Amino acid sequence: MAKMLPADTFDLVIFGGTGDLAMRKLLPALYHRDRDGQFDAGSRIIAASRRPLEREAYLAAVRESLSKNLAADDFDEKQWNAFSDRLHYVTVDANAPDTWGELAALLADREDRIRVAYLATAPGLYGAFAAGLRENGLITANSRIVLEKPVGRDYVTAREINDAIGQCFRENQIYRIDHYLGKETVQNLLALRFGNSLFEPLWRRGAVDHVQITVAEDLGVGGRVEFYDRIGALRDMVQNHMLQLLCLVAMESPSSLDHDAVRDEKMKVLRALKPIGVDDVGSRSVRAQYSDGAIRGETVPAYIDELADGDASSTETFVALKVEIENWRWSGVPFYLRTGKRLPAKHSEIVLQFQDVPHSIFPEQEYNVQPNRLTIRLQPDEGVKLSVMAKEPGPGGFDLRSVSLDLSFEETFGVRYPDAYERLLMEVLRGNPALFMRRDEIEAAWSWIDGIIAGWAGSRQKMDSYVAGSWGPSASSMLLDRDGRSWHPEA
Ligand code: BG6
Repeated sequence: MAKMLPADTFDLVIFGGTGDLAMRKLLPALYHRDRDGQFDAGSRIIAASRRPLEREAYLAAVRESLSKNLAADDFDEKQWNAFSDRLHYVTVDANAPDTWGELAALLADREDRIRVAYLATAPGLYGAFAAGLRENGLITANSRIVLEKPVGRDYVTAREINDAIGQCFRENQIYRIDHYLGKETVQNLLALRFGNSLFEPLWRRGAVDHVQITVAEDLGVGGRVEFYDRIGALRDMVQNHMLQLLCLVAMESPSSLDHDAVRDEKMKVLRALKPIGVDDVGSRSVRAQYSDGAIRGETVPAYIDELADGDASSTETFVALKVEIENWRWSGVPFYLRTGKRLPAKHSEIVLQFQDVPHSIFPEQEYNVQPNRLTIRLQPDEGVKLSVMAKEPGPGGFDLRSVSLDLSFEETFGVRYPDAYERLLMEVLRGNPALFMRRDEIEAAWSWIDGIIAGWAGSRQKMDSYVAGSWGPSASSMLLDRDGRSWHPEA
């Protein structure tokens, strides 16, 4: 297990402290870090929300949520008592200036400690919260602000949010979360690429035929349908998580792990993305919505039936893209991306498929020689797999089979995989922004995504449909089929 370094004394204020994110992700993550002894006695977690609530009632709600969201043997009374001593509750309404007093009183005379404002609220309120913190004199030299995604819904709104926050906080105080960057396997990608010399000569055009990135979910949109219907899969998953994965696969080696060194390299990839626009959305993108179907034998309704009665919707719940990176390393090597709700399983992976052997001594009619593949499994069963051709054992004949050198991280390291938020919250407390998105990254990603959205609108590209529980519409297979390729079968 990696070393557990304690955090300096802090006050962490969670705006949106009664919301889903706070209850399901942030508080369980903080509970774990506290249990491992990383918080000192004086550190406090202050939940803030518009709703007037007694501290006791808030504690009861947190207790219930922790007992649901933690593994049974992770929750115990003694630890809960210690954790709940840190928890405070205050009422704050971002848009009502006279509601900040209680928070200001709690934070008074504590300027020396680390102060984090975590905005787990609707992005439309980010500017108002930042301004409220400034106007009430609550921003100190040790302050940091954390913004949940989505930062905006396009380039223009992202800039507006960034400008509003930028008027109150310096860029190095702003932590824009993409929780995929806190996932262990995503960080392992850095270890795999830059902690081994084996892969580097092969990590480029000339050796790699193409790359596939799949982030599949079996869940539908559930209780978030109203929000999701204004967003869709491209904005919800591709603009952030999938482009970040693509950047980590495609970027050059940074000169160090320094936050700006890593982010500068990601930025170069974002700038090198070939635009997808009105002329080529038809050949380089697929969008689709699920109809009713079955997942593991359970019938699930169509997306439009999850919306309020009678609503029509042109929101995509699935998207597939053929992405091209215009630089020397990747010229001519397509990156195929796909993500969707209500696919057969929760399954995320990155696959690098290498080129065919240049000359096969095994005739095609007799031998099924498969190209090598490096698969990085993000979830579930995190690990790395390299498929190679091997001779089947036996004294007679000569048969070939594709077999795997398979590394399961959980089996190898035998430890619990911390949730992404555990790492990201600790990075905020320690003041390390390397795993967070810089302003220019967010805006570059939006500007590329805006091109696709404008292309869809301008070309009237049709919305496909797919059966819930399938791997998406046939157009998604055709996207690769046209190039003589297919999606990795294990997905
Ligand atoms: C969120 C999206 O950012 O990521 C959700 O808004 C999605 O729609 C979620 O379900 C997926 O995250 P994970 O960690 O479960 O793969």
